[in-house]
Amino acid sequence: MEFKNRDIISINDFSKEELLHILKIVSQMHNKPKANMLKGKILATLFFEPSTRTRLSFTSAMEQLGGQVIGFSTASVTSVQKGESLWDTIKMTEQYSDVIAMRHPLEGSARLAAEAASVPVINGGDGSNQHPTQTMLDLYTIQRTKGRLESLHIGFVGDLKYGRTVHSLVIALSHFNPTFYFIAPDELQIPENYLDGLYQKKIKYYKTSDLTRFSKELDVIYVTRIQKERFPDPLEYEKFKGVYRIDESFLHHVKKDLKIMHPLPTL
Ligand code: CP
Repeated sequence: MEFKNRDIISINDFSKEELLHILKIVSQMHNKPKANMLKGKILATLFFEPSTRTRLSFTSAMEQLGGQVIGFSTASVTSVQKGESLWDTIKMTEQYSDVIAMRHPLEGSARLAAEAASVPVINGGDGSNQHPTQTMLDLYTIQRTKGRLESLHIGFVGDLKYGRTVHSLVIALSHFNPTFYFIAPDELQIPENYLDGLYQKKIKYYKTSDLTRFSKELDVIYVTRIQKERFPDPLEYEKFKGVYRIDESFLHHVKKDLKIMHPLPTL
């Protein structure tokens, strides 16, 4: 298992054994960060799209491990405004840093950045495609709170079409014999290419727009916001805004030990 100098672009690039190994190391480091592990190393955080958790958690992790951080939280203060291409931004940034963490609105942008860069690139979200580090955290959360990853019944609620955290997590959990419940309006259901992957792996799944239909079956419910910024037509967004609510009445119809997750922000 080799991790040195590897990019983290898609959760597809990681085997089950590699994911389990990462979770083991995370568990060891959770309460005992190694203060000088990254001393002398510089992380560049290039965020072309808004973020609170992802950018600040990369920054916090780097600083707790003794490293330093440079970067930007909006492209509006960079030479992108003067027409600089993503490729050129990456070629510049690699001169100043040992690793790049990037978020960008375009699907595939992280892969392009990794092709340009001579240093490892970490994808902090590329459009509605993937969010692999969120998935590593989600796997860790599920493992800690449920005590296992194998054979869980997992519901995904909300915007499953544009929600990149859902896409990455579905792929990762597919290693662990899950049963999936995709709960969304037809227009925001999980894209067919993810279902094709599940079919090939003989993974059981159900699709519904009814939040309560399978509520008693679920071990974990993963709720997502409707991704306003990805809708080509703002009126379409208005149609789906607030369509699902996890409220007290919902909780009367679930297993006692159901875990509710949300990658945030809500709305
Ligand atoms: N979970 C997540 O990606 O949050 P941010 O958009 O705030 O980074």
